[in-house]
Amino acid sequence: MDKLVIEGGSPLSGTIRIHGAKNAALPILAASLLAEGVHSLHNVPKLLDIETMLNILGRLGCRAVHEGETVTMDTSTLSTSHVPEDLMRQMRSSIFLMGPLLSRFGEVTIYQPGGCAIGERKIDLHLQGLKLLGAEIEESNGRISCRAARLTGSDIHLDYPSVGATENIMMAAATAEGTTTISGAAREPEIQDLQNFLNAMGAQIIGAGTDTITIRGVTKLHPCTYEVIPDRIVAGTVMIAAAATRGSVTLTHTNAGHLTSLIHVLRRAGVQITVCNDIINVSCMGRPRAVERIVTSPYPSFPTDLQSQVMVLLSLADGFSVIKETVFEGRFKHVEEMARMGADISTDLNRAFIRGVQRLYGATVEATDLRAGAALVIAGLAAHGTTVVEQAHHIDRGYDGIELLFQKLGARISRKVPVPGPFDLAN
Ligand code: EPZ
Repeated sequence: MDKLVIEGGSPLSGTIRIHGAKNAALPILAASLLAEGVHSLHNVPKLLDIETMLNILGRLGCRAVHEGETVTMDTSTLSTSHVPEDLMRQMRSSIFLMGPLLSRFGEVTIYQPGGCAIGERKIDLHLQGLKLLGAEIEESNGRISCRAARLTGSDIHLDYPSVGATENIMMAAATAEGTTTISGAAREPEIQDLQNFLNAMGAQIIGAGTDTITIRGVTKLHPCTYEVIPDRIVAGTVMIAAAATRGSVTLTHTNAGHLTSLIHVLRRAGVQITVCNDIINVSCMGRPRAVERIVTSPYPSFPTDLQSQVMVLLSLADGFSVIKETVFEGRFKHVEEMARMGADISTDLNRAFIRGVQRLYGATVEATDLRAGAALVIAGLAAHGTTVVEQAHHIDRGYDGIELLFQKLGARISRKVPVPGPFDLAN
């Protein structure tokens, strides 16, 4: 497995372009199945998760080409609504395929995506929503079969503003008979991007970005050309890295409106931030201040996907900070690794108590999941000495060449790819 080797301790500086949003592109790729024909999707980043989704769509019969940051997807050859179990296990976001395949074929078979490093990742809200739209669902031995001769609009309330459940229901309801309302909906920018994509295909959806979304079912959708929004989590990761290394960085192709909660926290920590259109400037000349309390929760509150990264900044701050994680139950796995670098952090069930230290020291650490891995890269950039981040493939799921991104900002970071030994070659 790949490793990242980082010679830390020097401030980041320079300008970086932020790539398209993984968590917008994945549901949009799934939604493209709702219309037969050729879609052109721009600003789609080259990430492991995107490659996996394109492989799954290929196994279902679609033809997709990913050139540069444009995906050309022909869904007219889609031939099956059975998502193979091995592919479901590769990426839990395959769950997004339920709504579109059920709508397109009247049936879909998937497998329980299962949990992952950060938590149980239940899908009960997805299934409840599809049942209210008229789907008959059978579950046995992890296999989930859904059938619906015709999906019909319904009033659906989500007990928790699940991003994936909101998206799955939107996609299934887009061509249902009648009108569907989703109350208690997730409000993330990626939900708004999905609404805009579906409406570009001819859907009639309003309300994304608020907690109530209304979908008036239409009989047919058509393929379209669309540009995916910038990745707010990649942008936030770079902003935090700039602050943690006491650097000065300019980010382009961003949407600061999607990052208000992070910008508020960074300013409280004494980081200078200016915004002009799609450009964000971040600089931090001195030691950051502690931030008394950060609570992760659904948008527009502080995003769980930036929790591990901001913890690295606070581990170097002057003072004592507390982070409460309310979205996923397993999102503190980076804490143990950071302790090996000299961080002073203790945790209880869902809170981290961070006492800032003057500096972190390079060490060999392991990425356990996507955002924990990104946090360890930031720690390595800020630390004195050499840091090796193992299992770097986790990071490649959500960052397009993270080492190249930070090299452009002056970091001394490189990727080590294991050379197969004689025994490997023999296998
Ligand atoms: C999306 O996951 C993102 N992934 C996650 O980003 C992100 O952390 C999460 O939203 C929260 O913002 C994609 O968009 C591909 P949820 P999703 O459904 O849809 C519980 C990253 O690092 N829940 O809002 O799976 C669930 O257990 C990834 O890019 C149910 O109980 O998130 C969790 O505790 C990580 N029942 C909470 O809701 C359900 O049916 C949030 O889940 C669904 C969810």
